[in-house]
Amino acid sequence: MNTRAGNQEFFHNNRFIHDFRQASPYIHHFNGKTLVLAISSHVLVSDKLAALAADILLLTSLGMRLVIIHGCSQYIQAIAGRSTAISIDENPITDEAALELVKQASGIARFNLEAALSMIPTQIMEHSTPNIRIAGGNFLRAKPLGVINGIDMCYSGCVRKVDATAIEERLAHNQLVLISPIGHSLSGQCYRLQVNEVAQAVSEAISAEKLIFLGTQQGLLDEQQQTISKLNCIEIRQLLARNITDKRQTELLQTAAHVLEHGVQRVHVLSGLQDGSLLQELFTREGSGTAMAKAPFMRIRPAENKDIGEILQLIAPLEATGVLLPRDSEYMENHIHEFSVLEQDCYVYGCVALHVYPEENAGELACLIVSPDARARGYGELLLAHVIKQAQELQLQALFALSTHTGDWFVERGFSSATLAQLPAERQQQYTSNKRRSKIFRRQL
Ligand SMILES: CC(C)(COP(=O)(O)OP(=O)(O)OC[C@H]1O[C@@H](n2cnc3c(N)ncnc32)[C@H](O)[C@@H]1OP(=O)(O)O)[C@@H](O)C(=O)NCCC(=O)NCCS
Repeated sequence: MNTRAGNQEFFHNNRFIHDFRQASPYIHHFNGKTLVLAISSHVLVSDKLAALAADILLLTSLGMRLVIIHGCSQYIQAIAGRSTAISIDENPITDEAALELVKQASGIARFNLEAALSMIPTQIMEHSTPNIRIAGGNFLRAKPLGVINGIDMCYSGCVRKVDATAIEERLAHNQLVLISPIGHSLSGQCYRLQVNEVAQAVSEAISAEKLIFLGTQQGLLDEQQQTISKLNCIEIRQLLARNITDKRQTELLQTAAHVLEHGVQRVHVLSGLQDGSLLQELFTREGSGTAMAKAPFMRIRPAENKDIGEILQLIAPLEATGVLLPRDSEYMENHIHEFSVLEQDCYVYGCVALHVYPEENAGELACLIVSPDARARGYGELLLAHVIKQAQELQLQALFALSTHTGDWFVERGFSSATLAQLPAERQQQYTSNKRRSKIFRRQL
């Protein structure tokens, strides 16, 4: 028999509640957003396809609109034998026989993917299974690559146009759009296309929120062969200029840079062979592979009422140990305009407040906190620089900070010890009444 007490112990002992809460801003943010998934055929032929399909179904049930572009090289190899040059990189010329292979392989890839997406995951009751409908069609207009350096590329083509309206219509009807790497020309001819190029053209045409590559590697690798967790466009261009990455990685970086500069918000490179990597990348702070964005991921912005919960969560442990003054939600609602938050993706990693004493032409930096899992990355310093800039814009003459534990940190950043008498009069009264005996620091602006 299940008892309440047993359940409570269960919840205490596992991370479910913590993780679910951590995921909630992402769940909220992605509702109604369009994601393009480019899935390598290595993943499609693996025994991980069923688990990935179940995770994809979960995304649709959370309101995400999905377009999937599949690869087919592994199926070509299975049909034609190991010795065949299967990828378009190895053999850029697609003759008639090769085109037939591509059509066959794409057909098998589509059917396998459709079958996997039609499975009822064991954890979902049949009556609550999301009724996913998969749409295919002539979404890609192609043109031949033609003759390059005197060599006829035959049926190798490139994307001429994406029918974004048709894709949008299917997505608006809650259908998942499945696209093969084959396009059609105005003369009715089929052309083989590169998955990367299709992913780029489609995600730009429909202004996708994210383009996600699911391949065999955990993410993009740096010179020490370590997985890079985050990159912005400047860093992508630097990596490309150093010419240190292999051909596949270079192509991914080029595609990422292009789509990020043409309206796509994020590009991710993940392993489709690692169970749960897609969910981990989308719903956790840590992610699982490489995430790329146009601008640096982190920003400092004015706090809003919706941030109060997260700010109180940052304060709670420091309040309990006496590092910071207690602040409740009523206080926060009345003072939220003084706060700024440091946000990365959808998550608040730090906060700071500037309280102004207009009569003394001074300000107090208060409630400077960086989440323990994000410390020593310079975020504290960025928040301090932000408040100094705010204070300078207000033409304040001095900035105060009161601290019981962090005096050295302020001193190392240009503050010096000050006396009670130097504090604004109103603050002196509070100081005396709360008996915390914080140390006082002051910085001339
Ligand atoms: C103080 C705090 C905001 C710094 O945030 P941060 O993002 O880690 O800061 P930075 O990355 O810019 O600086 C990190 C450096 O500060 C040092 N540092 C951290 N806390 C310190 C402290 N209490 N005293 C002295 N130095 C400290 C770190 O050791 C690190 O030094 P290193 O680079 O030489 O290793 C953060 O530790 C925090 O939230 N502390 C609890 C709240 C608090 O005390 N707030 C201040 C009172 S309002």
